[in-house]
Amino acid sequence: MAGINKNGPVALIDTDPQASLSNWWNERKAETPIFASVSIANLANHLKELESGGVKLAIIDTPPAITETIRLVIAVADLVLIPTRPSPHDLRAVGSTVEMVEAAGKPMVFVINGAAARARITGEAAIALSQHGTVAPVTIYQRTDFAASMIDGRTVQEIDASSRSTDEIKELWKYVNKRLRKC
Ligand SMILES: Nc1ncnc2c1ncn2[C@@H]1O[C@H](COP(=O)(O)OP(=O)(O)OP(=O)(O)O)[C@@H](O)[C@H]1O
Ligand SMILES: [Mg+2]
Repeated sequence: MAGINKNGPVALIDTDPQASLSNWWNERKAETPIFASVSIANLANHLKELESGGVKLAIIDTPPAITETIRLVIAVADLVLIPTRPSPHDLRAVGSTVEMVEAAGKPMVFVINGAAARARITGEAAIALSQHGTVAPVTIYQRTDFAASMIDGRTVQEIDASSRSTDEIKELWKYVNKRLRKC
């Protein structure tokens, strides 16, 4: 994920061939955030165009595996968010992502996603991740409304403004926004 700037109109960019973010947006009825179809080779210029068009924040989704695409996205990012499942598989994969982000000299934040309630592995994952860098002070739990929102084209906040998932996402945004302001 990359932020080009603070609060305001938001653009989404999907660089993952799996196209989960595009599929979500295509189901979406609301006009915002806007969806920007851009070529990866020309990311920096596309971001400049979006910025001159008034976009204040660009969120770029990446493929899951370490690829040249990820390197190019990191190169234009102000802040790299690394969603990580508290599983041995995800934790093993983190090292090579971290190397790439550090080589580019970009700030990064891990976000633990899909945690199970009261599972010891969540705490263990946070400790393991903290050896590599900052872990967001908010854990996103595994809940059906997150899964439902992916096919529904809405956010969990839009589905139920008073759900626990909504609280987590609000808290996460508060934290990420604060970090972006320091970029
Ligand atoms: N916290 C959560 N609770 C429940 N379901 C979740 C949660 N996070 C993600 N999911 C579901 O898991 C699937 C994959 O999630 P997500 O898109 O975040 O991961 P990904 O690794 O980027 O996957 P993809 O390779 O499809 O892009 C989605 O269907 C999503 O709805
Ligand atoms: Mg994805």
